[in-house]
Amino acid sequence: MGQGAPAPDCRSFTQAAVSDWRGGRWLATTSDATRKRMQLTMAKITYVEHNGAEHVVEVANGLTVMEGARDNNIPGIEADCGGACACSTCHVYVDAGWVEKLPAKDDMEEDMLDFAYEPDPARSRLTCQIKVTDDLNGLVVHMPEKQI
Ligand code: FES
Repeated sequence: MGQGAPAPDCRSFTQAAVSDWRGGRWLATTSDATRKRMQLTMAKITYVEHNGAEHVVEVANGLTVMEGARDNNIPGIEADCGGACACSTCHVYVDAGWVEKLPAKDDMEEDMLDFAYEPDPARSRLTCQIKVTDDLNGLVVHMPEKQI
């Protein structure tokens, strides 16, 4: 390693990601583009309960729409299987304007929706199968009357 103090044994993720250890001191070596990529971006998602109550929350990219509801204690999405696409209790009706903007359902989600309460062939989705990205900013989902 050469001169200076030895590199620390333990670095926080942030330090390790944006800096480099050279000659006993941290050097900022990360480009603006990399820093921007590392920022946790959020999408605003509106969850509408069956009774009309709206919950507008910011959900971090990388989480699922189900996890956004769970982490914000939003009622109406039970997610009994924890996101394994094995229960259908995270069922919602996607707002009509968003149906075409979401990634298509895969076969497993399509099959599991058969077990959901009053599924709508066009608008029903399992929120555990929808990953949050910047493209979902403004998404609106409506909860069914009940989850089964
Ligand atoms: S949480 Fe079980 S299918 Fe989505």
